[in-house]
Amino acid sequence: MAFRNQQAFIDLLEKEGELVRIKSFVDPHLEIAEITDRISKEPGGGKALLFENTGYEFPVLMNAYGSERRMCLALGVQKLDDVAAEIEGLFKLLASPKESLLDKLRLLPKLGQFASWMPKVRAGRGECQEVVITDNPDIGKLPVITCWPKDGGPFVTLPIIHTKDPSTNSRNVGMYRMQVFGPTLTGMHWHKHKVSAKHFSEYKKLNKRMPVAVALGGDPAYAYSATAPLPENVDEYMLAGFLRKKKVELVKCITQPEIEVPADADFIIEGYVDPSDELIWEGPFGDHTGYYSLPDWYPRFHITAITHKKDPVYPATIVGIPPQEDAWLGKATERIFLAPIKMTMVPEIINMEMPVEGVFHNLVITQIKKDYAGQGQKVMNAMWGAGQMMFNKILVIADEGVSITNYRELARYAFANLDAASDIYFSQGPMDVLDHSCSKLGFGGKMSIDGTRKMEEELGDSPQGESGITSPDAAFFSSRFPEIRSMNTALAQDGIACLLVSVEKNRMNHVRELHQALCDMPETSAVKMILYVEHTVDANDLAVALWRFCNNLDPKRDSLLVRRSGAVACMGFDGTRKTKELDGFQRDWPNIIVANDSTIASVDGKWNALGLGKFLPSPSLKFKNQMYGEEAVVAG
Ligand SMILES: Cc1cc2nc3c(=O)[nH]c(=O)nc-3n(C[C@H](O)[C@H](O)[C@H](O)COP(=O)(O)O)c2cc1C
Repeated sequence: MAFRNQQAFIDLLEKEGELVRIKSFVDPHLEIAEITDRISKEPGGGKALLFENTGYEFPVLMNAYGSERRMCLALGVQKLDDVAAEIEGLFKLLASPKESLLDKLRLLPKLGQFASWMPKVRAGRGECQEVVITDNPDIGKLPVITCWPKDGGPFVTLPIIHTKDPSTNSRNVGMYRMQVFGPTLTGMHWHKHKVSAKHFSEYKKLNKRMPVAVALGGDPAYAYSATAPLPENVDEYMLAGFLRKKKVELVKCITQPEIEVPADADFIIEGYVDPSDELIWEGPFGDHTGYYSLPDWYPRFHITAITHKKDPVYPATIVGIPPQEDAWLGKATERIFLAPIKMTMVPEIINMEMPVEGVFHNLVITQIKKDYAGQGQKVMNAMWGAGQMMFNKILVIADEGVSITNYRELARYAFANLDAASDIYFSQGPMDVLDHSCSKLGFGGKMSIDGTRKMEEELGDSPQGESGITSPDAAFFSSRFPEIRSMNTALAQDGIACLLVSVEKNRMNHVRELHQALCDMPETSAVKMILYVEHTVDANDLAVALWRFCNNLDPKRDSLLVRRSGAVACMGFDGTRKTKELDGFQRDWPNIIVANDSTIASVDGKWNALGLGKFLPSPSLKFKNQMYGEEAVVAG
């Protein structure tokens, strides 16, 4: 379903009881983010929030995509799986044999419909150009939010960025945050693996200025499509047209006429990136990993015009410790892209799940129909070669029949099938630039845990025994090893041969030695895996421990295999923070993202005036004692 513009989407959210208008004053500097964090962590994602009193001319829309229901409303579907089913149907229609003329004719209506969804550039000005500011445009007039206390400044967080390849003229639409440095200057945070970064390097070769335009708002399908991991030469507005069942109408920018933007957008920020400029030191920024992303050098974006519709709404989002709004944008991608992965590369895939604790790329569970030995590894190779799946760090592979959304059932099944010595496969390759655990930026270890039932050819030589431990309990272990701060034995007692240990390490190789010592104890003889996390983390808070573990682990570098005669092999994984002193780790290690006391207090103080119902304490309170010392906060 197409929305006439963002306002029509807001109206629908309101009609459906999915939006709260906040009329009392809330400061875009930290307060909007703190309120949104409290709301988006409510079960189901809370409501969308429209901040109408921000001290700026324009209201701010937050958390608009922040639940399964609102994501479906944005894309005009009942269930996200409906989109995947439609894509699968389309692939099948195109790929099925067309022997008779009638078969071929049957294709025509679908092709005609498809053609009617292609983006179209129309003449004249768009709604997004009702107000045009070319003299002294000032991004400071927009209510650009500052999300977290250690952020480098305010950031535009839902920008729909348009660039073109200078040689093919093909368009890319991506979402890359923009740090505001001045009235006409922002950063342009496209990671080196992303399509617009490639366009930038093409302009650099030609030594030409790169026109760029940024849209905010419009039909909600645009922002989603900008985040979607489409192949390089597929126009995101084709996907948007397909999703909304209506072509995207584009108009030429005023000061950057090479670039076309959606006519119905709320704001357009026009400008250019000059490859001969010096780069700018961008960040830090509280990122979707739940950690600050480290500052780095990125291109400068010079603003030449700001245009907007008459009553625009400024859309924004925050990312941080999961779950947040982006979990639902990611859920849409997980559901929608299952069909193309299945139809083009991995026909044996049945389902896919990306737990929020894995912040998309860190942890992906894949369910396959397995027919032959080695098929799990075939799938692993295909997945790591599939577009942005290249950023995946931990890939778990399971069989049909087991539920991959019931993590306990899945873990019980996978561990029962697992030989820790032979069923965990390590590799290395490109990693998300935000992954702080990699020894080298954007390059690091990956692993695939093959939890499928093994065929005869695949059986390892480690003896397999009963799963789990029944006794003793955590206190028994921590009395022997004082560095153990907490230990999760509940999984093992539940038949999952895995322990989670929170450890305060104080010397080089400490975790390795502890792992060896634990594995030497008869009490752990049936345990196949031990996950180590930072001492500040409660090992019994599974969601938090898993989130921290996945972020801090480089699986290849941090794995510690112990083979035991007469007992199952046990793999240890060091998911603690790495430092120069204790690990020889040379990069800076960022802190987790926590609101500051003054923002928490000011939001507490104004809560009753916000109209948001019962008081919600700050989610940051839970994480305050998990931060590292001030000196470890992202350094320049
Ligand atoms: C809220 C949000 C913010 C994002 N910020 C960035 C960013 O700053 N830099 C980046 O490279 N990717 C960012 N991404 C991910 C990209 O939008 C995503 O990888 C997209 O597919 C890139 O498009 P491309 O393949 O056309 O380059 C963000 C995603 C979301 C949902």
